[in-house]
Amino acid sequence: MKIVKKLPGVRHTEIRDYEIDHKNTALEVAEEGIVLLKNEGILPLKNNRPIALYGSGARNTIKGGTGSGDVNERENISIEQGLRECGFEIESTEWLDTYDKIREAARLEWKQKIWDSVDEKHLFIEQYFSMPYKNPEENLILPENDSRAETAIYVLSRISGEGSDRKCEPGDFLLSESEERNLRFLDYCRKNIILVLNTGGLIDLSITEQMKNIKAIVYFTQGGMEGGRAFANILTGKVTPSGKLTDTWGCNYDAWPASDSFGINNGNLQTEEYREGIFVGYRWFDAVGKGIRYPFGFGLSYTEFSIRTESIQVIEGKCRARVTVTNIHEKYSGKEVVQLYLIFSGNKGITREEKKLVGFQKTKLLKPGESQMLQIEFAITELSRFDEELHAYIVDSGKYGVAVGNSAENISVEAVLHVAETVKSRTLTPVMPLQRELRQLEFIPTEKNFDTSLAVLEISPEQIFVKKDSYTDWHKELVEQKSTELAEQMSVEQLILLVCGQTGGSESIAGAASESLPGAAGETVGVSVQGTYLPGVVLVDGPAGLRLSQHYQTDSAGMMYEQNIENAIEHGFFSCQTKKSGDVVDYYQYCTAFPIGTMVAQTWNLELAEALGRAVGEEMEEFGASLWLAPGMNIHRNPLCGRNFEYYSEDPLISGKMAAAVTKGVQKNSNAGTTIKHFAVNNQEDNRMGVDCIVSERALREIYLKGFQIAIEEANPRAIMSSYNKINGIHASNSKDLCTRIAREEWGFEGIIMTDWTTTDNGSESYLCIRAGNDLIMPGTLRDHHNIRQALSKGKLSEEMLRRCGKRIIKTILELS
Ligand code: BGC
Repeated sequence: MKIVKKLPGVRHTEIRDYEIDHKNTALEVAEEGIVLLKNEGILPLKNNRPIALYGSGARNTIKGGTGSGDVNERENISIEQGLRECGFEIESTEWLDTYDKIREAARLEWKQKIWDSVDEKHLFIEQYFSMPYKNPEENLILPENDSRAETAIYVLSRISGEGSDRKCEPGDFLLSESEERNLRFLDYCRKNIILVLNTGGLIDLSITEQMKNIKAIVYFTQGGMEGGRAFANILTGKVTPSGKLTDTWGCNYDAWPASDSFGINNGNLQTEEYREGIFVGYRWFDAVGKGIRYPFGFGLSYTEFSIRTESIQVIEGKCRARVTVTNIHEKYSGKEVVQLYLIFSGNKGITREEKKLVGFQKTKLLKPGESQMLQIEFAITELSRFDEELHAYIVDSGKYGVAVGNSAENISVEAVLHVAETVKSRTLTPVMPLQRELRQLEFIPTEKNFDTSLAVLEISPEQIFVKKDSYTDWHKELVEQKSTELAEQMSVEQLILLVCGQTGGSESIAGAASESLPGAAGETVGVSVQGTYLPGVVLVDGPAGLRLSQHYQTDSAGMMYEQNIENAIEHGFFSCQTKKSGDVVDYYQYCTAFPIGTMVAQTWNLELAEALGRAVGEEMEEFGASLWLAPGMNIHRNPLCGRNFEYYSEDPLISGKMAAAVTKGVQKNSNAGTTIKHFAVNNQEDNRMGVDCIVSERALREIYLKGFQIAIEEANPRAIMSSYNKINGIHASNSKDLCTRIAREEWGFEGIIMTDWTTTDNGSESYLCIRAGNDLIMPGTLRDHHNIRQALSKGKLSEEMLRRCGKRIIKTILELS
């Protein structure tokens, strides 16, 4: 228990203005993030007819995943509720009631199983992570469950979270027995079925191909607390769908690269070979030329657009396309996403992707007949590839197509860039070298003979590796000076305190280690130096909003009753604490649950992503949090990664742009900063703290690090969280190449790097974090203090290194206060 000066939250449960505003933002993001995958003329639906509603996600619609990315929101609007509010008459209530009971029993059984497995050696949070909840089999749909409904809506749901990967088995990546049976039954007796996928990631839809009455498929994804309303608005046509996939949807699991060896699939959780190199997502599907169910960037609309390229020019190191989009439908308004791809030709025999996304933009809402001119740019350096022998980025001489379209498969080449001579960037220091042989798959793009009628734009060598403007902050120098002074004045013991998070107090090792903001993930230590008090700052989880406990209590003297992780996840479902009565004060903290990261990206709307960030920044201000542990931006390498829902895409450009937009929004509030995570290659959850990812430097630079680089260069996030895994034999948080050479020396990152929670109890060494330039160890333990002290005394760590990390933490704290 601890006394805090100003307690966070409020003492009543009435809805506040910020909640209403932010709910609207969440609704807008969900509406724009829903992707319509199939529509044989049945959508939009008229809402004056009765419907039948089935499936595990119909009433218990999943708003987002579990673990640190959870949010304890006020109310989650289900698909059932959204439809009822819109005036739909739902006939299948009895089926829904029965499934509810089955689900309720399954949840209690799951809870019990977790608690039964907890002992001194097995902490609650570890058991929770390793035993994910799985939907129980569904009750049979019977002819008498509904009578009049012509249309059945079937909502298939999945939930996943950190600590465990998904599995290619029934009820997860595959349809469960009862889902298949129920869908077959509906297909047999209904003319129209709308299949809704309330999943945080992809699943195998092969079986549904045989069901001819599935007339529409909606990738609803996981839409945050307003998801049900967003869905109803899309269904009725109040809103025209405009979401586009940010992953390629393969025909089945085997269509993805490394599906045989991903995670536990080959029985080896110790090492993961990234044999596919740069061929991730559509880069892979393009190379093998098969296996796609829905392409990257794809999504249907109720309206139709014409996309006309007006001009493509090369100006000051950039290529700029001007494109006019016109809504050519006579009835519906809508938004379109224009995507720009570079097309590579294989004339030189060099391993490359067939194409890559280099830019995109979404239109405003266009009324029937209305047009908008978009201007989309990309840097000419996008033509480059990383050459591992030369240790430099190379732009090969030759021709490159610039293609415009509205999905990776629906593009047309509109201009050709011609590079007369090969150009090389400055030579870079080799980083994270392979420690063992890695046999990578190599593909050479097909030779392209671009249409000779296309404009050919000459690219001169000076236009290629143009130096980017570095980020400038008005009070940068002052803060720099002050933090140097304070770091110099600190004793070694003070520095040790500073580089480790606040230890002790709370029992929980992960996820709820803050003592001043109930439910927050952790905080740094407050330190006094020569009369200046540097306050500790609070770090709170994301990425779907702020994960805080919704309710906590103090005694009448303001002493807060102990909080733990059980209160801060799943609305306290696991909590064993009983609500105290009598002389107690109740506090409430209502945070907005936004759609999951993938869905945010599916909007392809950077302004909206920034608005979401702004809303988060406002809630951070409201609750006194300084660093948000989000956005999550690892690459969707394989659909079974348990945390894909938190991340944006298989593509680094859209990941980086989204993280930058969200960061800009959060950091509009000068007291709030983002923590982009998990740096890097955190693409698997099973054995996430031990797995060694064997990956080439080229794949690292072109795929796995690139999104982080974009976010840093465009938005200057205050912090980075290093990942748990090893990369080529070294834990990310212990990697000087990653934390210092790449992030700081190459990209100019100026904020702090922190570890992921408890990594120093699980293989990564505390003093090596400091040596690598991973400034802050979270959540911080006395063992970390001891480890650093010992390393100093044995000469394994210099005081200067420690002071450098301390200085960066001080600087960030000063910038945030
Ligand atoms: C997760 C992080 C999270 C941290 C704090 C870890 O288990 O991997 O993403 O920010 O916990 O809750």
